[in-house]
Amino acid sequence: MRQNWRSLVAATVGLFLAGTRAQTEPVQDLGSLLANQSSLSTFYGLIQKYPQILLQLPSYQGVTILAPNNNAFDKIPYSSLSDAFKNNNEDVITNVLQYHILQGTRIAAQLVPGSPVFIPTLLTSTEYTNVTGGQVVENVKQAGNVVVFVSGQGSRSTLVKSDLSFTGGVVQIIDSLLIPPSNLTDTLNAFNITSFEGALYATDDVYSFSNTPNVTIFASADSGFEALGPAITSMTSEELAQVMNYTILPQVVYSPGLTNGTKFVARNGENVSVLHSGNNVYINSAQLLTSDILIANGVLHVIDNVLNPQGPYAQPNPQIGSQAPVFASASNVDELPFTASIPCTVSCPVSTTSTPTPSTTSSVVTPTSLVAAATSSSTRVSTSSSKGQAAALAKETGFGAAGLMVALGGAVLMI
Ligand SMILES: *[C@@H]1O[C@H](CO)[C@@H](O)[C@H](O)[C@H]1NC(C)=O
Ligand SMILES: *[C@@H]1O[C@H](CO)[C@@H](O)[C@H](O)[C@H]1NC(C)=O
Ligand SMILES: *[C@@H]1O[C@H](CO)[C@@H](O)[C@H](O)[C@H]1NC(C)=O
Ligand SMILES: *[C@@H]1O[C@H](CO)[C@@H](O)[C@H](O)[C@H]1NC(C)=O
Ligand SMILES: *[C@@H]1O[C@H](CO)[C@@H](O)[C@H](O)[C@H]1NC(C)=O
Ligand SMILES: *[C@@H]1O[C@H](CO)[C@@H](O)[C@H](O)[C@H]1NC(C)=O
Ligand SMILES: *[C@@H]1O[C@H](CO)[C@@H](O)[C@H](O)[C@H]1NC(C)=O
Ligand SMILES: *[C@@H]1O[C@H](CO)[C@@H](O)[C@H](O)[C@H]1NC(C)=O
Repeated sequence: MRQNWRSLVAATVGLFLAGTRAQTEPVQDLGSLLANQSSLSTFYGLIQKYPQILLQLPSYQGVTILAPNNNAFDKIPYSSLSDAFKNNNEDVITNVLQYHILQGTRIAAQLVPGSPVFIPTLLTSTEYTNVTGGQVVENVKQAGNVVVFVSGQGSRSTLVKSDLSFTGGVVQIIDSLLIPPSNLTDTLNAFNITSFEGALYATDDVYSFSNTPNVTIFASADSGFEALGPAITSMTSEELAQVMNYTILPQVVYSPGLTNGTKFVARNGENVSVLHSGNNVYINSAQLLTSDILIANGVLHVIDNVLNPQGPYAQPNPQIGSQAPVFASASNVDELPFTASIPCTVSCPVSTTSTPTPSTTSSVVTPTSLVAAATSSSTRVSTSSSKGQAAALAKETGFGAAGLMVALGGAVLMI
């Protein structure tokens, strides 16, 4: 089996060599490139261990490999990938590696400041993603020419060395692993979007929201539900389900698609409208707080109010900071609506997770979200002192770059 992979990969790499070797400047094959970058030795070891990833490359017109440097692998124990790497879960690791390969050759200079692009990857298995055509990575260039790749749960990887050409495309070195987007409920938990999640459980909508391929979800922050109080908690589950059906679009719309004046048909058949005012973006009258949180089956945008299917023409007043609720007889409550509907195995009131800072332009996430991601289901870890927590975790697991290198040391493959 292993032998088969090897010969196939040898043939694969041979194809690159035959196909695109330039006359003027010889371009190296991927194996030599990786072997030559000391900061990529861990990644090289992984590629040697799971060479089947490379078999997919020739079917694309060039690829961009986002290669995590050795430091990136040091952070794995604090990420949601910890268990998979510790247990050598070949299935998960293979899909993680596929997520690190972008379709098409992207050189750093092609990025335009400020405007995010969403690039499909080789991650297509429906076991891990339900975005047809390949789960995406968000790529955005920030002030100071910092190039960032945003992945699941808002994890951010920064480009540290760019444009290393090889015969099949280009390698970009990043400082953290990309996290394949997790499912809707794990993502809502990580972002502390509690009432919306509770309402999904209360209406039995949770599986259709999390398993339908290619969706956009406009989830109200908890404050939007608190502002409604009895106006939403006293609804019948049928009425509530209608409200929820107005928060989901049967297509994937990342923030660049939310252009001024655009209308989208929600799952209930009613339109939602996008309005821009200054730097603010509104969905009907609700302000967009955090955009482009990637989920396994599409994208999640956080807004400050619950959308009302009975009031699809609601317009914001951009002069005021926080828009009034669009439901009749709304009255603010302190108790978060619908939390009791969330099964305890999904969200137990043990401790807290990090709350990303709202942003109008792009998803903004702290590095501590990696820690939050590591604690997806029943047990949660407070991220308020992430440094100390991380150190503690490291002690417990005893799993660092050195251990990983030993684990990978056995695999020898010349490509
Ligand atoms: C590493 O790069 C140098 C210079 O680019 C090249 O001469 C050498 O052959 C490379 N080594 C390997 C193992 O590819
Ligand atoms: C994708 O959808 C299928 C059913 O439509 C479901 O079984 C699978 O779990 C979903 N994958 C993810 C990652 O949510
Ligand atoms: C799913 O969404 C992606 C990205 O927007 C798109 O390329 C693809 O065609 C969509 N697939 C379907 C079946 O709608
Ligand atoms: C999301 O994934 C977690 C495992 O990470 C699982 O426990 C949970 O049931 C999933 N949620 C849904 C709605 O399928
Ligand atoms: C919500 O949408 C789903 C899928 O289209 C549909 O099956 C369900 O009946 C809708 N619920 C309500 C209350 O309209
Ligand atoms: C949604 O908007 C489109 C375009 O403005 C319009 O043609 C359509 O009638 C609207 N649908 C509903 C249900 O209002
Ligand atoms: C968005 O469109 C509306 C209506 O056409 C217009 O009044 C408003 O100025 C536009 N906003 C921006 C930021 O261009
Ligand atoms: C999450 O939301 C709940 C309810 O609003 C709040 O009590 C808690 O402090 C939040 N957690 C964080 C980390 O902000």
